[in-house]
Amino acid sequence: MSMFKVYVTRMIPEAGLEILRKVAQVKVWEGELPPPREVILKEVADVDGLVSLLTDKIDAAVMDAGKKLKVISNYAVGFDNISIPDATERGILVTNTPGVLTDTTADFAFALLMAAARRIVEADKHVREGKWKTWVPTGFLGQDIHHATLGLIGLGRIGYEMARRASGFSMKLLYYDVRRNEKAEKELGLEYVEIPELLRRSDFVSIHVPLTQDTYHLIGREELKLMKKTAILINSARGPIVDTDALYEALRDGVIAGAGLDVTEPEPIPADHPILKLDNLTIAPHIASASVATRTTMATMAAENCVAALKGEVPPNLVNPEVLKVRETSTRQGRLVGRAALEK
Ligand code: DGY
Repeated sequence: MSMFKVYVTRMIPEAGLEILRKVAQVKVWEGELPPPREVILKEVADVDGLVSLLTDKIDAAVMDAGKKLKVISNYAVGFDNISIPDATERGILVTNTPGVLTDTTADFAFALLMAAARRIVEADKHVREGKWKTWVPTGFLGQDIHHATLGLIGLGRIGYEMARRASGFSMKLLYYDVRRNEKAEKELGLEYVEIPELLRRSDFVSIHVPLTQDTYHLIGREELKLMKKTAILINSARGPIVDTDALYEALRDGVIAGAGLDVTEPEPIPADHPILKLDNLTIAPHIASASVATRTTMATMAAENCVAALKGEVPPNLVNPEVLKVRETSTRQGRLVGRAALEK
């Protein structure tokens, strides 16, 4: 049996590699940092499948270097690192890992909200630095979470789970999404509002939209100015949805009270960035989905998506179904795509 070849751009949990190895020769980039672009361009030349991470830019040049590439299986639910139209045009299937990380990510977004509201990281640092002298009536005053208003920008899977967690804290829930979800409104008592109203009325604003051209810098200077001085912004989605410079100024100048970020622009944020000097920022290195169970399931899911595509099946988590209509062209000999190939 001729084996497929798959390149994996970073060490992922073994359970995923095991699935890939059953059908393919698997090469893994074992570096701590993402593979340099030249390495991806070289490695992709000879493979049928690519398992990529959100830290890899997979654009037309990579796809053209991958003459035999049939599938790009992203080890993430987000796929803004991949140029989808270019993949579709070239007949390459793109997959992601939705669902399995929803609860884990919502847990973390809520943890970030709580940590920022109650100044947990700042207080921890204070104790460790030997500054805890006594109980202080006005020490470390934060914002109440219970009965406060949470504004969700995006009510997809993660936004919805964030709302469920917040309703356990008796929070009032506002949301904005490009699509209204009347079922969720009834279930959780959510109120649908446009973004400016959401920003004006919320004590906490939490972002749960994908990064697209439409959501790039969705929160900038003007939006931050609409928020309450006591409000806290949470971003566990993608860094570039928030303008970092505008957020830095807003936190520094007291335009808003605080922020909790799991994602930044740029990512990683440089260690000498002035925003890191601010105590009203709680920050984590893009770890919202990082539980043992979830990262393992993401690996098996990414591997299963990749294997299905290699076998000519429709992978369970195909993000560009339009690709199934793309016919094999003479210049793409051997690439197993298109309805004809998938139906064979
Ligand atoms: C994703 O999956 O898109 C997260 O950012 C990482 O798990």
